[in-house]
Amino acid sequence: MTNTERHLIFGAKGWIAGLLAELLQKQGKEVKGVTIRLEDREAVLKELDEYKPTRVYNCAGVTGRPNVDWCEDNKEATIRSNVIGTLNLADATFLRGIHMTNFATGCIYTYDEKHQFHGVGFTEEDEPNFTGSYYSYTKGLVEKIIKQYSNVLTLRLRMPVSDDLNPRNFVTKITKYERVVDIPNSNTILYDLLPAALAMAEAKLTGVYNFTNPGAISHNEVLAAYKKHVDPNFAWKNFSLEEQAKVIKAGRSNCELDTTKLTTALAKLGVKVPEVHEAYDLCFQRMAKHLKDGTAHSW
Ligand SMILES: NC(=O)c1ccc[n+]([C@@H]2O[C@H](COP(=O)([O-])OP(=O)(O)OC[C@H]3O[C@@H](n4cnc5c(N)ncnc54)[C@H](OP(=O)(O)O)[C@@H]3O)[C@@H](O)[C@H]2O)c1
Repeated sequence: MTNTERHLIFGAKGWIAGLLAELLQKQGKEVKGVTIRLEDREAVLKELDEYKPTRVYNCAGVTGRPNVDWCEDNKEATIRSNVIGTLNLADATFLRGIHMTNFATGCIYTYDEKHQFHGVGFTEEDEPNFTGSYYSYTKGLVEKIIKQYSNVLTLRLRMPVSDDLNPRNFVTKITKYERVVDIPNSNTILYDLLPAALAMAEAKLTGVYNFTNPGAISHNEVLAAYKKHVDPNFAWKNFSLEEQAKVIKAGRSNCELDTTKLTTALAKLGVKVPEVHEAYDLCFQRMAKHLKDGTAHSW
């Protein structure tokens, strides 16, 4: 990569944006983060014309606070950011001939007859079959449209995990729930996958990729590994999907994604991503060190 490379991150105050900016800085890259609203076409185009980025990353979007249930009651705001805004950025970068990496979600699937626990994972070609939350519904719709843009790389994250106990971390969330379900899922360990995202952006890959560690891991397996490496006193209680449905407004996606397309592409770039159980063991070992040293996720 030459010195003229400039990386522009939208959604700069968000969790994933912060980790990405830190990683780019550590790699010695020129990076700028902005909080411009994605749907503000004039401001977006102005920024592209002034900063002249060679790579754009979309880390902006509404995920809901305290959780995605928020989107059920705020559908227009969800559409404004996750549909209009995301498509606006794709279109603006297309018009200016700039590669865009879109941090999207794999929470658009749910296990079905063909895709059972520890069976066949959903591929990038499978039609989204989960619309149980408005958040997932809009993300599935946008993906279908955005994949027509020849400059866009869409990365489908699931239940992202950092090496610290940031409140956005999937592990932090499930360690704080009163009860958790126990279902195998694909997870994105950010320590492994954010460097992979940069390698893919650098190679100007486009199209849709399932963006998780290979394999699926259940909540209980995650929590058992957390207990082993991080907090020996940790205890948790399970409940069923039916019981969970009584305490949440929108449904939640549970699924395994097929990572063949991702691992094949990464192999060509010389990047290896560990299987999810191994990845969690390594992540929790780093987390234990961070907790001991009083430090946050770092590269
Ligand atoms: N964390 C997860 O569990 C998860 C899982 C899968 C995929 N993802 C996806 O990854 C992306 C980043 O997630 P994250 O966890 O880093 O989220 P986050 O911490 O909530 O950050 C998102 C950022 O986007 C900004 N934003 C929202 N709407 C915007 C708009 N229209 N224009 C500009 N900025 C806007 C927010 O700013 P304001 O607060 O000022 O609006 C916030 O700073 C999201 O698209 C999300 O769907 C996340």
